[in-house]
Amino acid sequence: MKVITKTAELQRILSCGDTIITGFVPTMGALHEGHLSLVERCRRECDLTVVSIFVNPTQFNDPGDLKNYPRTPERDRSLLEKAGVDVVFMPDVDEIYPEKDVRLFSFGHLDKVMEGEKRPGHFNGVAQIVSKLFDIVQPEKAYFGEKDFQQLAIIRALIKKLGYNIEIVGCPIKRDGDGLALSSRNVLLNPQQRQAAPLIYRVLSQAVGMKDEKSIEELCLWVTENIDRDPELKVEYFNIVDSLTLQPVKDWNENGEKYGCIAVKVGNVRLIDNLKFC
Ligand code: PAF
Repeated sequence: MKVITKTAELQRILSCGDTIITGFVPTMGALHEGHLSLVERCRRECDLTVVSIFVNPTQFNDPGDLKNYPRTPERDRSLLEKAGVDVVFMPDVDEIYPEKDVRLFSFGHLDKVMEGEKRPGHFNGVAQIVSKLFDIVQPEKAYFGEKDFQQLAIIRALIKKLGYNIEIVGCPIKRDGDGLALSSRNVLLNPQQRQAAPLIYRVLSQAVGMKDEKSIEELCLWVTENIDRDPELKVEYFNIVDSLTLQPVKDWNENGEKYGCIAVKVGNVRLIDNLKFC
């Protein structure tokens, strides 16, 4: 496995092989089984697997969150080596942003709700880094987790907007045995918080079974009340949204697939999750 920190060196390596399909898994490190499932799929479907590890400052709207974001570079490298990755790109901030990135992206209604509303500027930062990494790696396929449901929709919109010919592959959420969606932020939970957090998925799963008895409004209230009952947890939002437009749906009879998307504060840690309702 080659570990590269410089863009020019990465591009040199990528241009001199005879790779037919380059697959790319962008990450912010602190890797877990969810990331490794993306890597595994990428390796199955591509000739060359490139993984990036870069904690992108422009997508953090909260400086405390950026400072506390878990960083485990040595462990990440060894996990990726074992997973059979070909190239790891671990640039520093100056390598990616030699000057301030002032590009502004607009995604219409897609980034006005949920994470976009609660974390102003977040998706602009995601679009900045993902477009830069796509320009550098120029992959045929790129792999993203469905836990970041809105991010996936934004990235699909981004490649359309910028005219990239890259296939975006969404991969299913990986969960711990107790149902908690795997996230790099889970290591920041203290033991009580970690014990409380699986309630998020338990309540979501129960709610799926209640959709014939309750209106969307009633169900949203039920989910929020049942999670907020635990003193460690505070729901920031829970919406049933259309899977393509991400706009909140008011009636179960509206056309299209519907997902329940949630963000919960657990102390200072913010967790997101989602589940298909119908
Ligand atoms: O999902 C993430 O880890 C990040 O948002 C990404 C896509 C690597 C961009 O920094």
